[in-house]
Amino acid sequence: MRFVYCKNYDEMSKKIAEDLIQEIRQNPEIVLGLATGSTPEGTYEYLVKAYEEGTVDFSKVTSVNLDEYKGLGPDDDQGYRYFMNHHLFDHVNIDKANTYVPNGLEEDSDKACSEYEAIIENVGGIDVQLLGIGGNGHIGFNEPGEIFIKGTHCVDLAESTLKANARFFDSIDDVPKQAYSMGVGNIMSAKKVILAVSGKNKAQALYDTLYGDITPKVQASILQLHNNVVLYADEDALSIIKEKGLL
Ligand code: PGA
Repeated sequence: MRFVYCKNYDEMSKKIAEDLIQEIRQNPEIVLGLATGSTPEGTYEYLVKAYEEGTVDFSKVTSVNLDEYKGLGPDDDQGYRYFMNHHLFDHVNIDKANTYVPNGLEEDSDKACSEYEAIIENVGGIDVQLLGIGGNGHIGFNEPGEIFIKGTHCVDLAESTLKANARFFDSIDDVPKQAYSMGVGNIMSAKKVILAVSGKNKAQALYDTLYGDITPKVQASILQLHNNVVLYADEDALSIIKEKGLL
């Protein structure tokens, strides 16, 4: 794992955007695995800025997102397709036909997941996966549990995730209880993983991810086995690792 120290969230966002821009320049037809949530928002802002300045071209880029709430469609402003349009796709020259998010409106979970697996296969797999971690160590919506699940699946969201994500909804009762998520196998198959971790609320999860056992109880810990992870972490996220004298 390569580590890039970042002073704060803004620096992390900028450095990740620079990394992604370089990847897109090297391979204009790149398949990006993209993430939603607070962590990548700043990165997307920098990507939009770079596009406006003419330094990056998304016209041949394909994207596949990690996850989507079951029951939310493209027009739901808490849904992840909406998030991606709003934060990135509407502002750059990516062809939306080449952007994929699991179909939250498909009620048949098996169908939704097998269709998404087919999409990932058809695009030829993921070149670079942008990834955050949850406070509970989840990646995508792969929640703490007894096993690692390889492929796209329907998840019962953990109580900790419902609580963490309630901030985006009117109340916790409005947070969908299920989601479709890529599995850890999909994530581990990416040629490169950019792991973005910011904030004190992620410090324990980051410590467990890097220094703990590889266990499905901390799903991100499996990244210890990936041979091309670049970790961008800010000072707050590194606080426990620092306290323990490991940095
Ligand atoms: P966040 O979520 O970026 O909104 O903190 C990350 C995650 O839950 O994976």
